[in-house]
Amino acid sequence: MKVLGIESSCDETACAIVEDGRTIISNVVATQIPFHQIYKGVVPEIASRKHAEWILPVVKQALAAANMTLEEVDAIAATNRPGLMGSLLVGLTFGKTLAWSANKPFIAINHMLGHMYAAHLVNDIQYPYIGLLVSGGHSIIAKVNGFDDLEIMGTTMDDSVGEAFDKVAKYYNLGYPGGVSIDKLAQKGDKRAFSFPVPKIDKGEHRYDVSFSGLKTAVIHQRDSFCNEGYEKSNENMAAAFQETACSTLVSRLLRAVEDTGITTVVAGGGVAANSRLRAMLAEHTELKCIFPPLKLCGDNGAMIAGVAYHFLERGDRSGWDTTACARIPQFKRGLANLESFGRR
Ligand code: KG4
Ligand code: ZN
Repeated sequence: MKVLGIESSCDETACAIVEDGRTIISNVVATQIPFHQIYKGVVPEIASRKHAEWILPVVKQALAAANMTLEEVDAIAATNRPGLMGSLLVGLTFGKTLAWSANKPFIAINHMLGHMYAAHLVNDIQYPYIGLLVSGGHSIIAKVNGFDDLEIMGTTMDDSVGEAFDKVAKYYNLGYPGGVSIDKLAQKGDKRAFSFPVPKIDKGEHRYDVSFSGLKTAVIHQRDSFCNEGYEKSNENMAAAFQETACSTLVSRLLRAVEDTGITTVVAGGGVAANSRLRAMLAEHTELKCIFPPLKLCGDNGAMIAGVAYHFLERGDRSGWDTTACARIPQFKRGLANLESFGRR
């Protein structure tokens, strides 16, 4: 089954064709970064306008790169949640219209299930595993039982990890997207230069939860007071220490989830899964089998949407023409009832 997947939830206009949830036939990502760069963040109005301009050429390009016509596509999928409302509506409406006019099955896809699926496009991965979903909008630790079955163990209490990277980079004018620039800058810095505060929320129901707003505020507003003696208060050192604290916060909660469930396979997804320090930190845990998507599948793309869509479609699921977009997904908040079963202390 060849699925055409459309992704437009944030600032990438993307379309891919994937066969049987595994073989990427084409994967086109048109990034809007240059248009948002001067504002040091995504401007929702610009994003939706660019999606509207680019969606048709991007879909045409994905078909051309696959050397396929629309008739040869078996089904169409598009992200409908979560994300920027205007951006989501462009891809979703385009996808529904294309499917309706070509008389093809249509399925709307949860963007975070797409991110969780990205690593499956290039690896044979058995369920269950511990999922680490880290993006611009989410920081989720979950027991993943199937492509659409995530038991949320921990989540962020405030900002997502990607947002912390982006806001720190914005404040210090380090470049956009923030995660990419901090990752690069940190390689020239010394992580021991600053001792930034780590979140203290780690008891009981918050055992697997993370928090990044305290770290973000400390780095932005009180950076110098956390500098260790003998070290330079440089952006490079700050980036290295900030990244170290953010990544070790994630890893510490992840290790708890591994310990409590006894599941030693960890699969990462989302833009922050591209972070070189996070990858290196987890690689040190040789007792774990850590699987990261290739870098180009960490950020937003249509292949992850077409890939996970195949499994919904194969099961017989379809979305109606009245399917709408949804900016947030409350079901990705931690389910307190779940925690008992994970054996938290
Ligand atoms: O998954 P994604 O492309 O979009 C969302 O679904 O949000 O994630 C974007 C986020 C941004 O916050 C960006 O700064 C971050 O991923 N990011 C990184 C890296 N590359 C992208 N964060 C840390 N290190 C990176 N190398
Ligand atoms: Zn994303």
